[in-house]
Amino acid sequence: MHAISSYITKHKNRFLEELFSLIRIPSISADSAYAQHMEAAAKAVQIALKDVGCTHTELCPTKGYPIVYAEKIIDPKLPTVLVYGHYDVQPPDPLDLWETPPFEPEIRETDLHPEGAIFARGACDDKGQMFMHIKAMEVMEQTGGLPCNIKFMIEGEEEVGSDNLEDFVRANTKKLENDVILISDTGMIANDIPSITTGLRGLSYVEVEVTGPNRDLHSGLYGGAVANPITILTQMIASLHDEKNRITIPGFYDNVEIVSTAERAEMAKIPFALDAYKNALDIKAVYGEEGYTTLERKSIRPTLDVNGIWGGYTGEGAKTVIASKAYAKISMRLVPHQKSEEITKLFSEHFKSLAPEGVTVKIIPHHGGEGYVMHPDGLAFQAASKAYIETFGKAPLPVRDGGSIPIVALFEETLKSKTVLMGFGLDSDAIHSPNEHFGVFNFLKGIETIPHFYHHFTALHQANQ
Ligand code: BES
Ligand code: MN
Ligand code: MN
Repeated sequence: MHAISSYITKHKNRFLEELFSLIRIPSISADSAYAQHMEAAAKAVQIALKDVGCTHTELCPTKGYPIVYAEKIIDPKLPTVLVYGHYDVQPPDPLDLWETPPFEPEIRETDLHPEGAIFARGACDDKGQMFMHIKAMEVMEQTGGLPCNIKFMIEGEEEVGSDNLEDFVRANTKKLENDVILISDTGMIANDIPSITTGLRGLSYVEVEVTGPNRDLHSGLYGGAVANPITILTQMIASLHDEKNRITIPGFYDNVEIVSTAERAEMAKIPFALDAYKNALDIKAVYGEEGYTTLERKSIRPTLDVNGIWGGYTGEGAKTVIASKAYAKISMRLVPHQKSEEITKLFSEHFKSLAPEGVTVKIIPHHGGEGYVMHPDGLAFQAASKAYIETFGKAPLPVRDGGSIPIVALFEETLKSKTVLMGFGLDSDAIHSPNEHFGVFNFLKGIETIPHFYHHFTALHQANQ
C-alpha cells in the first residue's frame, strides 16, 4: 500500500489547491443572500466527483439547496460504501475576530499543527473533511482501482438542520442502498491519538419569546409596577438548572441511557489533559453536572444551553426602558433514547409553567434530531481500526462525541445501515468559530486512511459472505 502514500506526497499541493478553490466559495446555507454561492458550491462538488472517476453524477433538486449524488458501481456483487458529507458552512461572523478573511484560505502553523493548518470557514466542517473522500477516490482509482462500489451524497443544508434530506432519503432508498455509510464530519482526540466517533448526541432547539406590556415603557414611570420580560426570562432560564447542575424540566432524564460502569471505566482511560483544556479556553475551572467527568459531561450526558439572548436597548449610551419582549435561543443536547420531539414538548410545558401571570410565553421549536451510538464490534469499525493501524501505527480509540449529525439516526432507520464516523478534526480546530482551521497533516492523513478502509471493509465483507 506504499503506492497510496507516495501518490499523496506527489499530488498533495494540487489537493490543497483544489480544496482551496472549494473553500473560496462562501456557501453559507443560513443566509439566503448566498444562494448563488450555494449553487456554485454544489456544482463544484459535482465536477470534482466527476473528475475523480464517478461514472454518474447529478445535482438533485430539493425544496432547499441541491443534494449532490454520484456513484461508481464496479460490480453489484461487491459491497457499496456510501459517503455522506456537507458542502454548506456556518456563517463566519463575528468577522472582526478572524485573523485572515474566512473565505481566503491560508496555511499557518499552530502549536497543535506544526505542519501547518488551513485557516478558513469550512476548512474542517465540512469541506476539508468531505473533500478528503473525493481525493481518496482519486487515490484509489490511480493506484489500482476501487476495491468496491462507491456512492456519494453531499448535502447543502446540514448546518441548518437538513430539512430536505429526510424526504430525499425516504424517496431514494433504492438509489442509496449501501453496506456501510462513511462520514468524516467529527473529530479525533489528537494527531498522535487517533479515535473513531462511536456516539453523537441528539438535539432539541427552541426559541422562546416572553412578552410583558404591549409596548416598551419608560422604566421610571412603570418600573417596579409591571413584570420586566428580560428579568423574568433570565429568572426562568436560571431555574432550568439546580444546584447540582442538573436540568430541572420534569421528565427530562426519564429515558436517558444509563451508561454502564464498565463503559465509564473505559472512558476514564481516554487521554484527557484537564489543565491543557482549561488553559486553551482561558478558564480557571470547568463547570457541569455533579458526579460526572468533563469527558462524560460533553458526551454521554444531556445538556441545556442558552445560545443567544436579547431584548431591550443595547445601543450606545443609556436608554431607560422596560422592553415589551425578551427572547432566547436554547439548545438541548440529548443522549440515546431521549426523543427530540418529546423533549421539546417537555421543555415547552415546563417553560410556560414557569411564567408569572404578568407575561406570556411563546415557544418556537426549531430543528432537532436523535442521537446515535454504535458498538465498536461490527465489521465497519474493525475495518476502520485496521486502516488506522496502517496509517497511524496504532488502533483508534472509540470515543463518543458531543456534537450532532441528526441524519445518522435517520440513515439507520431508513437505509438500515451502520455509519462509521471517521473524523479527522481536532476539538481545538474552532469549527463554527472565527479562525476555523484544519491541519494539513489531518487532511492528508484522512486521504491516506480512507483507501485502507475501503480495502479492509471489502475484504472483511467478502470473508463474511
Ligand atoms: N460536523 C458537525 C457536528 C460534529 C462536530 C459532531 C464535531 C461531532 C464532532 C455538524 O456540522 C454540526 O455542526 N452539527 C450541528 C447540528 C445541526 C443540526 C445544525 C451541531 O452539532 O450543532
Ligand atoms: Mn459538519
Ligand atoms: Mn457544523
